[in-house]
Amino acid sequence: MASTPMASATPSLRRALRAVARTLLALPLALLLCFGFGGEAMAAQWTSEQLTVPATADGTTVTFSEQEIKAGRKLFNTSCGECHAGGITKTNQNVGLDPETLALATPARDNVEALVDYMKDPTSYDGEYSIADVHPSIRSSDIFVKMRDLNDDDLRLMAGYILTAPKVQGVQWGGGKIYF
Ligand code: HEC
Repeated sequence: MASTPMASATPSLRRALRAVARTLLALPLALLLCFGFGGEAMAAQWTSEQLTVPATADGTTVTFSEQEIKAGRKLFNTSCGECHAGGITKTNQNVGLDPETLALATPARDNVEALVDYMKDPTSYDGEYSIADVHPSIRSSDIFVKMRDLNDDDLRLMAGYILTAPKVQGVQWGGGKIYF
């Protein structure tokens, strides 16, 4: 008498366990599909147009790889993010990192070379005097110790990130002061 309910419970229990096992096996695969390949697909959406930015003031351009821009973003977030997250300047909203503001500085800062120069020895917006004593730079790395870890290539990658960010992120970069 007692064996009848047992006999029918066991197969259904087995079925339930098999369903759980299938779900557990499928889960990592689903996650891999979403985040693994999804991430790749997103990165591949950056066009070479977006990755190409002015190298110098004379119109020469340079095309970065996605890996370089990602490395630049990481360095930027660590070294500059505290004040410039999202391309704005927390303590001076007038001097953001959006292309328009960079272009109107003296000399214009909307190219890799000028940005690298700025990171080495930053100047006032009108270019008249050094602000290295108040802005992180290689020149003032005795005060701004985070700058000690950065080499020339790191500076180049961060410049690449600053210049490609508005092309990839649009108006989100620099607080919406971007002209199309
Ligand atoms: C402690 C806060 C702080 C940190 C950290 C910081 N900055 Fe700045 N940054 C400022 C301020 C304030 C200004 C505006 C300076 C001025 O008055 O001209 C500025 C201006 C700039 C400008 C000029 C923008 C323009 O439109 O002309 C650039 C480029 C820049 N920073 C790049 C960087 C980079 C790259 C890093 C990281 C290596 C960095 N900054 C780290 C505060 C900071």
